[in-house]
Amino acid sequence: METIGIASGDGKALKMDMTPQSTARLEVRGLKRNFGGLDVVRDVSLSLQAGQVTGLLGPSGCGKSTTLRIIAGVDHQTEGEVWIDGQMVAGPGVFVPPEKRHIGLMFQDFALFPHLSVGDNVAFGLSGTRTEKRQRVYTLLDKVGLGKFVDKFPHELSGGEQQRVALARALAPKPSIMLMDEPFSGLDNRLRDGIRDEALSILKEEGAAVLLVTHEPEEAMRMADEIALMRAGQIVQHGAPYNLYNAPVDLQAAAFFSDVNVISGVVDGALTQTAFGQFLAPGVPDGSTVDIVIRPQHLKIDFDRGGVGPSPTLDHGVWARGLVKRARFIGKESLVEFQMERDGSILTASVPSVFLPKPDTPLWIAIRRDRCFVFPRR
Ligand SMILES: Nc1ncnc2c1ncn2[C@@H]1O[C@H](COP(=O)(O)OP(=O)(O)OP(=O)(O)O)[C@@H](O)[C@H]1O
Ligand SMILES: [Mg+2]
Repeated sequence: METIGIASGDGKALKMDMTPQSTARLEVRGLKRNFGGLDVVRDVSLSLQAGQVTGLLGPSGCGKSTTLRIIAGVDHQTEGEVWIDGQMVAGPGVFVPPEKRHIGLMFQDFALFPHLSVGDNVAFGLSGTRTEKRQRVYTLLDKVGLGKFVDKFPHELSGGEQQRVALARALAPKPSIMLMDEPFSGLDNRLRDGIRDEALSILKEEGAAVLLVTHEPEEAMRMADEIALMRAGQIVQHGAPYNLYNAPVDLQAAAFFSDVNVISGVVDGALTQTAFGQFLAPGVPDGSTVDIVIRPQHLKIDFDRGGVGPSPTLDHGVWARGLVKRARFIGKESLVEFQMERDGSILTASVPSVFLPKPDTPLWIAIRRDRCFVFPRR
């Protein structure tokens, strides 16, 4: 570390660290974790600013919790570095113990201390005078709407209330980084939405950098400013939720966020021919297969008028006919499954209203061309 001395007013030299520092609150560089010969985390790099929520999103077993554990300091990386506020806390020859990292942790299997009151649970990790601690406990319990519960014991609280106490406890020491590992997964949907939004606004208010692990894309999109999509130990895409949803890197990334329809075709002269007309496949060699991927809500449906469908348009390409296999009402939308006449393939469309056509009804389907993705098959 490079330091320079500056003479201060009282004649003592002040030392300033002049090492070029990153402004990131948390930075993870080239993280790798090997278990029994297998890399379960591979070259993971992340950078989090204060007040920013990053969702670490991926399927079960992809290495999310392992990444979090290494950042928290409860596991050791095989390679790579973790930096907090410009200081290396884990890296070659460096290991700062978990309690010195000022990281707040909130895990799914959070456990409140059963023999301590709600107030004492929240005060547990706090230092300072009695009055300061009391004040912080009351502030936080008020924030999570549990001010009146300060003298109750965990067993007297519902699951959701306990979770809010756990949130208050994790926030109490003002961690500059908050690591959350599926913290809301034990809650029913209604409760979860409320607590999630509450947690998010408190975390933003407190200015913590948050890394939220989840395997639910909706949760990630709802809470995170940025999403790092992880698969088999690697981050395959990183960006704003809007970009991940609307510009996925591949078929798997698209399919992770919603059900998708896949229409395949073989490329000839940078084009592929399908029941829905031609699609551009620039740069894809002739003879390769491409997958045209479209979410159910981006299929258009129109009626059959004596065997004739709507005319092709630039926006929707060619319409193709299919027979309804089944239609299901699922609340805010209906799902209609079609068998396409041309090749027998099955497509699913989501329609926003109660539109429940009978099986075997012929209908015409088109693809919103601005919403489909064309991926070369790997
Ligand atoms: N201590 C360990 N020893 C051996 N293998 C481990 C260990 N911890 C994790 N793994 C393996 O590493 C992989 C990643 O595990 P991890 O817990 O990070 O996944 P995850 O993404 O958090 O999954 P989930 O969404 O199910 O919690 C898994 O295949 C797991 O079996
Ligand atoms: Mg996990």
